[in-house]
Amino acid sequence: MLTMPTRANPDGCNAPKINRSLSALLGSVALCAVLSAGLAQAEAVPAGLTPAEVESARGIASTLLNQLGQALKTSIANDGPVAAVGVCKDVAPSIATNLSSQNGVQVKRVGTRVRNPNTGVPNSWQKEALSEFDSRLAQGEKPADLEYWRVVDGAQGKRELRFAKAIVTQQLCVTCHGKAEDIPAPLLEKIRAEYPQDEAIGYRVGQLRGAVVLTRSLGSDR
Ligand code: HEC
Repeated sequence: MLTMPTRANPDGCNAPKINRSLSALLGSVALCAVLSAGLAQAEAVPAGLTPAEVESARGIASTLLNQLGQALKTSIANDGPVAAVGVCKDVAPSIATNLSSQNGVQVKRVGTRVRNPNTGVPNSWQKEALSEFDSRLAQGEKPADLEYWRVVDGAQGKRELRFAKAIVTQQLCVTCHGKAEDIPAPLLEKIRAEYPQDEAIGYRVGQLRGAVVLTRSLGSDR
């Protein structure tokens, strides 16, 4: 069955011309359904990746987010947000480093704007993933569906998987990434003391905050 999208479509499918023949009209409705199905679809996984490789990348990204989220919540609950900034500074990079070495991948977080310039700045493919996520979010895609997959020719003739998963700002996050005037003074002072080049403030709930980015060498056998 064909279902017309409820949101406005940039291709103007919702405004068929009156003088079109019925078949042309039906044709354009069908095309419209195909286009909007394509828009709403999650990023396709490239051919050649095994289900195990896909699940592994997703699992590592989720583990990173879960472990960080848990550490953040525990630290805020036990010691308050000011102390949690210090915990973040030590714990966030070490969780990423541990997960990377345990799984033979490189995994970390990058930001659309960055607090830690040593770890959080996206490279060119990661920027591309972030800008793709931003437009897909604007088109109404669910944050949980925002994934980016590529397989490229990497170093020494080996195929390389590049995977990104969107990180969208939640209520908890604006405590430390919201508008400067909403952040309590001692917390803002602590953030500025630890991160003098901080640009990762001014976010609203629902906005793209960054991504988990993962690269893995897939070997040269396929
Ligand atoms: C207690 C304050 C605090 C809270 C709450 C917080 N963050 Fe952060 N965030 C930080 C600090 C500090 C860093 C820098 C960590 C480091 O040095 O690696 C950071 C870094 C990041 C980065 C890495 C990119 C960058 O800017 O360096 C992302 C992505 C991020 N936070 C997302 C989130 C999200 C999403 C939430 C909500 C689930 C959140 N943060 C909640 C303090 C916080």
